Amino acid sequence: MRGEVAISGSKNSALPLLFASLLTGERCRFRNVPELADIRTAIRLLQDLGVKVGALDGHGVELVADALTGHEAPYELVKTMRASFLSLGPLLSREGRARVSTPGGCAIGARPVNLHLNGLEKMGAKLEIVHGYVEAEAPARRNGRRLRGARLALDTPSVGATENLMMAATLADGVTEIENAAREPEIEDLANALGKMGARIEGAGTSVIRVEGVEELRGVDHEVIADRIEAGTFAVAAAITRGDCRLRGARAAHLDAFLLKLEEAGVQLDAEPAGIRVRGPERPRSVTVKTAPFPGFATDLQAQMMALMSIAEGSAVITETIFENRFMHALELVRLGADIAIEGNNAVVRGVERLSGAPVMATDLRASVSLVLAGLAADNSTEIGRVYHLDRGYERIEEKLCGLGADIRRARAPRA
Ligand code: UD1
Repeated sequence: MRGEVAISGSKNSALPLLFASLLTGERCRFRNVPELADIRTAIRLLQDLGVKVGALDGHGVELVADALTGHEAPYELVKTMRASFLSLGPLLSREGRARVSTPGGCAIGARPVNLHLNGLEKMGAKLEIVHGYVEAEAPARRNGRRLRGARLALDTPSVGATENLMMAATLADGVTEIENAAREPEIEDLANALGKMGARIEGAGTSVIRVEGVEELRGVDHEVIADRIEAGTFAVAAAITRGDCRLRGARAAHLDAFLLKLEEAGVQLDAEPAGIRVRGPERPRSVTVKTAPFPGFATDLQAQMMALMSIAEGSAVITETIFENRFMHALELVRLGADIAIEGNNAVVRGVERLSGAPVMATDLRASVSLVLAGLAADNSTEIGRVYHLDRGYERIEEKLCGLGADIRRARAPRA
């Protein structure tokens, strides 16, 4: 794989940002929004709620939530995309009430939302779970139904809970402090946009976030940060094919732990003004990887790293600490000739010299991309089923990979 690829805007940043538009009646413009199935789901939900949504040139989205017609996120949209649950905080904060379906489990684990709900309850919300929906109401205050600021401590630094609670706190009465907050770059991006909307937020990107509620927020024009997970995925594509690729727009600071591991594996990395250059070694070395909340090694890059380790010299141990069921790609990689043994949340990957193409099945977003990466390095051709998972999070992936020299075809049209 050789050449340059432009990294798209971050899916995980764009989703909460789109929901943040519910917090104001003024116009919000977001640039660099990736064109993805998950983004279309978020827009459909916002339109159902009465938000006017328009497309701007390129990758821009314009949203005006000046006359909301509903306050419900239906099961159909939450089960399609769990991030729809991020409508709860903004709706409750702006409208004083919300009815949002609970997400249920998903392919990579249980994924509860208790931290979101506990936090909102501490902020005075009355919550009931009825027929699979969270029905929430903010307390009546002299200035209408409003949440009130509170001191919150998350048991675990959940990205979604931090985002939901931070958004909810922007319009609450008084000060909210979120301790043990998630520190992911997407949280900082959201806080930056909210700040431009007039929110008073300190500490985003650290473990303690302080939000002083304001009466109302205004519109915003904001550019979404580059997708660090897409960048990391293309870095592995270069590394696994002894390639030389430039990832335009990628930010090394957002990928620290991951890049250190790539370097340890023998991959040559150069931070350049326009992005990151990645050169793959003749054969990578095995490295130990343990996923952790940011700034640790991202769980969303674990499957891709496993694909790389499957052809590395030596044995690698990969430990997944964030999600309990996130090794489903391992058995599919074994179908491609990888030697992987799973014991609890550890995967022992004994590198083989070559992988060999085979039909395999995608199970979730990052698992599916790890199969694409393995397929790039395998003899003969690899056929991957259920690629709609890929379209949830990777923009024009086959076009981008083909631009770098891969030979990939989509056998059937993508899902709408
Ligand atoms: C986000 C990302 C996802 C990434 C994950 C972890 C988006 C849209 N998705 O998901 O791509 O894999 O962060 O980096 O940004 N937990 C609880 N209770 C809760 C909430 C979470 O126990 O109320 C647990 C989860 O089960 C999990 C851990 O906390 O074990 C981290 O989950 P969380 O950070 O919330 O992930 P998401 O925000 O869902």
